[in-house]
Amino acid sequence: MVSDTRSRPLRDLRISVTDRCNFRCTYCMPKEVFGRDFHFLPARELLTFEEIERLARVFARLGVEKLRVTGGEPLLRRDLPTLISMLSAIPGIRDITLTTNGVLLPKLAPALKSAGLQRVTVSLDSLDDAVFRAMNDVDMPVARVLEGIDAAAEAGLGPIKINVVVKRGVNDAGLVDVAGHFRGSRHIVRFIEYMDVGTTNGWRLDDVVPAAEIVRAIDAVFPLEALAPNYRGEVANRYRYKDGSGEIGVIASVTQPFCGDCSRARLSSEGLLYTCLFAANGRDLRALLRAGAGDDELASFIEGAWHVRDDRYSELRARETSHLPKVEMSHIGG
Ligand code: GTP
Ligand code: 5AD
Ligand code: SF4
Ligand code: SF4
Repeated sequence: MVSDTRSRPLRDLRISVTDRCNFRCTYCMPKEVFGRDFHFLPARELLTFEEIERLARVFARLGVEKLRVTGGEPLLRRDLPTLISMLSAIPGIRDITLTTNGVLLPKLAPALKSAGLQRVTVSLDSLDDAVFRAMNDVDMPVARVLEGIDAAAEAGLGPIKINVVVKRGVNDAGLVDVAGHFRGSRHIVRFIEYMDVGTTNGWRLDDVVPAAEIVRAIDAVFPLEALAPNYRGEVANRYRYKDGSGEIGVIASVTQPFCGDCSRARLSSEGLLYTCLFAANGRDLRALLRAGAGDDELASFIEGAWHVRDDRYSELRARETSHLPKVEMSHIGG
């Protein structure tokens, strides 16, 4: 088992399979930056499925048990179910999940399930069509995402987690509606404090609705009680409805940072290893791979990177760091 300078093990690997997305969420890929002229990675720059699988095997050897496939929008990557079946054959991997905006699930959910995907997380910021269309900024209606959620549930990929990024004055008026809609469905809504990931979304602290305020608003309509975490280092704080109709989560990365237990490494689609969501630089695993490195060499490179890891951006946010360059969310997934 490898451990970093703060005694945190390496347990999770988040793999971005594309930097492209069919949405332009204003908090993630604002159109002014990710417009027509934006240069996405050409195919030859992306890790191949064989390269991803090989790296994932090495990570598993080092203690990784959980994989999350992300993007951009991961379902845009051609033949994704093939990659899922390659990853699900890796010894030591106990959990494979995927984060998606949901619109391609009606087409892909059954194939993903047969390939060995266990669960999906779907992003959906509002049930109000006008609000949602403005947030995704490609005029995508809510109904298309709901169809995706239903398709995933039908394919056996549930219970599904629904991620709601909360921005003050944008979608905060509709949070109780979202909670109410999924109450009793077995799906778990998680409200996420808007974060200052990347450098393009114009984040301001005033835009953040603290998790405590979100919980209060929902509790006032649907009484809640706190639940213990499912596992150490769980990102979401859990609550259950007192009437037994399910649970919700809040992800309070801004007001209650959870760096102390962070066991997550991230691999960008061109093969850079990041040890924090807010890192400025990644380490080039693709260069090593393509120079012919063996598994032992890859393992000691990753081990070395983890060994010196000191990241705790969210804990330091309040201090002097926010002007530093940072990788974009669409580059390394959530
Ligand atoms: P489960 O495997 O279902 O428990 O997933 P999870 O709780 O790890 O949640 P998920 O991976 O869906 O992450 C949800 C959201 O939390 C992401 O979209 C990010 O916004 C945020 N998040 C996840 N990991 C981190 C992290 O390491 N640091 C910070 N600051 N935020 C994170
Ligand atoms: N703050 C919080 N969450 C974000 N996500 C994307 N950008 C941000 C941000 N700035 C979430 C999306 C999705 C996941 C990939 O990350 O809503 O659920
Ligand atoms: Fe695409 Fe997800 Fe980013 Fe929205 S949050 S632009 S759906 S990657
Ligand atoms: Fe982990 Fe960095 Fe997020 Fe802290 S800010 S929880 S170290 S990814």
